[in-house]
Amino acid sequence: MADEVSLKSEFDIQNIREQFPILERKIGNKPLIYLDSAASAQKSDYVLDAMFNQARTAYSNVHRGLHTLANETTDAFEKSRELVRSHLNAKSVDEIIFTKGATEAINLVASGLGATIKAGDEIMVSVMEHHSNIVPWHFLRERFGAVIKWIEIEEDGSLDMESFRSQLSEKTRLVAVTHMSNVLGTVPDVKTIIKEAHSAGALVLLDGCQAAVHLDVDVQVMDVDFYVCSAHKMYGPTGIGALYGKLDILANMQPYQGGGEMIDLVTRESVTYNTPPHRFEAGTPAILEAVGFGAAVAWMQKFVTPEARAYKKAVYERLAEGVRGINGLTIYGMSKDKGPVLTFSIEGTHPHDLAQILDRYGVAIRAGHHCAQPLMSHLKVSATARASVGVYNTLEEADMFVEALDKARAMLLA
Ligand SMILES: Cc1ncc(COP(=O)(O)O)c(C=O)c1O
Repeated sequence: MADEVSLKSEFDIQNIREQFPILERKIGNKPLIYLDSAASAQKSDYVLDAMFNQARTAYSNVHRGLHTLANETTDAFEKSRELVRSHLNAKSVDEIIFTKGATEAINLVASGLGATIKAGDEIMVSVMEHHSNIVPWHFLRERFGAVIKWIEIEEDGSLDMESFRSQLSEKTRLVAVTHMSNVLGTVPDVKTIIKEAHSAGALVLLDGCQAAVHLDVDVQVMDVDFYVCSAHKMYGPTGIGALYGKLDILANMQPYQGGGEMIDLVTRESVTYNTPPHRFEAGTPAILEAVGFGAAVAWMQKFVTPEARAYKKAVYERLAEGVRGINGLTIYGMSKDKGPVLTFSIEGTHPHDLAQILDRYGVAIRAGHHCAQPLMSHLKVSATARASVGVYNTLEEADMFVEALDKARAMLLA
């Protein structure tokens, strides 16, 4: 089970890689170099085994049963909630809601706050947000007349604090920003944002999809109101994520979906609701995925050590250093505080073509708008290429990527 991680804890890249059998794959006849973890990270045997063993030995529906399997499954499910709580350092497990992912978590908050939004209320987002932290707020604009205020970014990709401050007012209901950009890697000064937003009477939601895997997250120290993350970016399974919300806020929020488990009492005439987190978890949840999420968090707590983070940073720096020598290459996002995400373009080439040619060298990167079209238009590009680092990437892989990229460029410009 998830709290019984018994593997070596000291950082050892070989030991880490051996836990991800997919890394032994060949693409064509080349070894796989997976530089697309920001889109979705690979899953260790530990996570896969936890899910598989749960299904094989103690599977049932959760919360409803009076039999042994139901109780054991419920215990495993709730143990995962506790692991996620500890990963985010929430005060209580009741503040952790399992969702399908970050996207659903943000939609849940938008839907919950929706009923309280009046025309003219303002929601601030930054131009570097992922669509999942933009579109739900557009819903509130379309449905309730909320006004979206855009926080600009500086040349180096850092968040423009002046733009934030000049637009913050008593009309601001919510500031919804990324804790680490999936494109630029930028880590904004969220502590200051939260403090100043609270002084103005606004709530703050942080999109922690990328940050929850690369940074230490402490929702209590940050004093953030909502925090969202997706398990599949954290070496866990798809189909599950978490919403953290302060209990007093959740307790006053409208349910998201109606169905089983989220109720207290249903009659012909009326319905009353369960308390958080169950109020927001209608229907049978993603049980095995939740177990995998807990295992992923336990795995990260054991293996994504400060040494592992330092190594990951070194791999990123090797990538960034290496590509600087490539003619016509532009890097997007060079802020001082940034995570290991390298977004770039090469003059005269299309990012999709680069990604396709890199695949022939076994290198997996992402190309496109990265679900961040407002950012793309700010950068005046339609697409970029992105190489993102996971805890299992090596310095050698960084060098091989740079070499392959240089060849891809030469091929496309020949
Ligand atoms: C910063 C950020 N926010 C939100 C999301 C959406 O996550 P999911 O698709 O897992 O809900 C992603 C995924 O790419 C992301 O990188």
